[in-house]
Amino acid sequence: MFNMEQQLIVSGGKRLVGELEIEPSKNAFLPILAACVLCEGEIFLENFVDLSDILCMREILESLNVHSFLQNGGIYIDARNVRNNKITHEMTQKIRASIFISGALLSRFRNAVVAFPGGCKIGARPIDLFVKGFRALGVNVVEKHGYIYCHGQNMHAGEVIFDFPSVGATESLIMCATLLDGVTTLKNVAKEPEIVDLQNFLNLCGAKISGAGTDQIVVEGVKSLHGTSFSVMPDRIVAGTYLLAAATVGGDVLLKNFRLKDSESLISFLRQTACKIDIKGDTIRLKASGRQPCIESVQTLPFPFFPTDLQSQMLVLQSVSNGSSIIEENVFENRFAIVPELCKMGAKIAVRGRAAHVYGVEKLFGADVSSCDLRAGAALVIAGMKAEGYTTICNVHFIDRGYEKIEEKFGALGAEIRRVNV
Ligand code: EPZ
Repeated sequence: MFNMEQQLIVSGGKRLVGELEIEPSKNAFLPILAACVLCEGEIFLENFVDLSDILCMREILESLNVHSFLQNGGIYIDARNVRNNKITHEMTQKIRASIFISGALLSRFRNAVVAFPGGCKIGARPIDLFVKGFRALGVNVVEKHGYIYCHGQNMHAGEVIFDFPSVGATESLIMCATLLDGVTTLKNVAKEPEIVDLQNFLNLCGAKISGAGTDQIVVEGVKSLHGTSFSVMPDRIVAGTYLLAAATVGGDVLLKNFRLKDSESLISFLRQTACKIDIKGDTIRLKASGRQPCIESVQTLPFPFFPTDLQSQMLVLQSVSNGSSIIEENVFENRFAIVPELCKMGAKIAVRGRAAHVYGVEKLFGADVSSCDLRAGAALVIAGMKAEGYTTICNVHFIDRGYEKIEEKFGALGAEIRRVNV
C-alpha cells in the first residue's frame, strides 16, 4: 500500500477543472487517535483518510493493545484494554505525532516511556516544551538514551505556561490534564483548529475542557472517559494545497467541505492575486488564468496567521508570479529544502536565513526532482503540473504521509500524473 520506492511522473501544462471533497485532517486525526488511549469505551470516527501517518499511529496504538478496524467509511477504536507498554524508537521514528501519546499515557497510568519522535526533517523538532509542561504538573521526567521516562506518581493539576505555542505540546498537555484530579490551566497555547477538534472530541467522551482556539485552555480533570462517535474536521492544509495549485496552474476548481474560518489567512493572500474566489457555505470556487501578480511578502506564523504547512506550495505560486517577493519561514528552521529542486525546474529563488527571495519567472521546465518532506513533495507536484514537459518526483512516500492518493485527486481535476514503481 505505501511502497517506499515509488515515483510520480507529472505531465505539465494541464489546467485544473472540476470538483473535489476535502479529506479529513491528518493533523486532527493523529492527536484524536492518540487521545483514544484515555477512553474506556469504544470510539467510532465517522470519516477516515488513508494516509501512511495514520497507519503508523494505528500500529503504535496496536502495540498498546488498542485495536482499530475500518467499517462503514469510518474507523472503530477500542482502548478498553490498553496496556502501558514502552513506545519504542522503531515506532516513534516514523511520525512526530507518536510523542503526543505520552500525555495520554501519563493521564491514564501516571507513567509513560516514549522514545524521542521522528517526522519530517524540517528542523530539530525538540520536545523540551512537552517535558517542561509535564514537569510543571509534577511529573518526574528522565531523558536517557533517546527515551523520556515519565514518572507521574506525584503528578497534580496546576498551571503550564508555554514558551512557544507548540501545537503538539498543547495537545499532549491537554491529554495529560484530562484525567488529573483538579483544574489545570494551560497558557500561551497554540490556537490551531485541530486543537479545537481535539477538545470537541474529548468533551464528547466526558472530558471538561474549554478555551481551545484561544491562548488559554482550562482542563477540569474527570475520573474517566467513555466512548463516542465523532467526525474529524476537514484538512485545511490539503484544501490550501488544492487552492494554491489551481492559482498556480490555472483552471476552475470547486472544493466541498471547506471551512473558511480555518483558512482566512490563505484566502486573504489569494485575494491579492487575480484569482476569482467565491465562497458559499462550505464550498469554495477558485478561477485562475494566466500569470498571477506576485504577493510581495508572506510570513509563516502560528495560527491564525499563514501556516508553515503551506509555505512550500506558496513558494511555487510565487516562483511563477509576476514580480519579486519574499517568503519568511518563522516556525521551522529548515523548511526551504524544496528550493534547490525548484531551481532545477528554472525557478529563481535565493534563501538568506529565514527568508526566500523569489524572482518570478514565466515558465518552469520539467526535471527529475526529489521530495524531501511532506509539504515540499506536494509543492513539487504543483510545480510539475505547471512546468513544460515531464517532471519525475522521487521519495513519494513523503507525500503519501499527508495526501491521500494525490495523483488520483489531482487527476480528477484533469492533471496527468502517473505513479510508477521503481
Ligand atoms: C504540528 O507539528 C504539525 N504536525 C505540523 O505539520 C505543523 O507544521 C506544526 O504543528 C506547526 O503548525 C502535526 O500536527 C502532526 P510545533 P508540531 O510543536 O506539533 C518548536 C505537516 O506537514 N518546538 O507547533 O511538531 C518546533 O521545533 C506537519 O503536517 C520546540 O522547540 O509543531 C518548531 O520550531 C509538519 N520544542 C515550533 O516549535 C517543543 O517541545 C513549532 O512546532 C515543541 C516544538
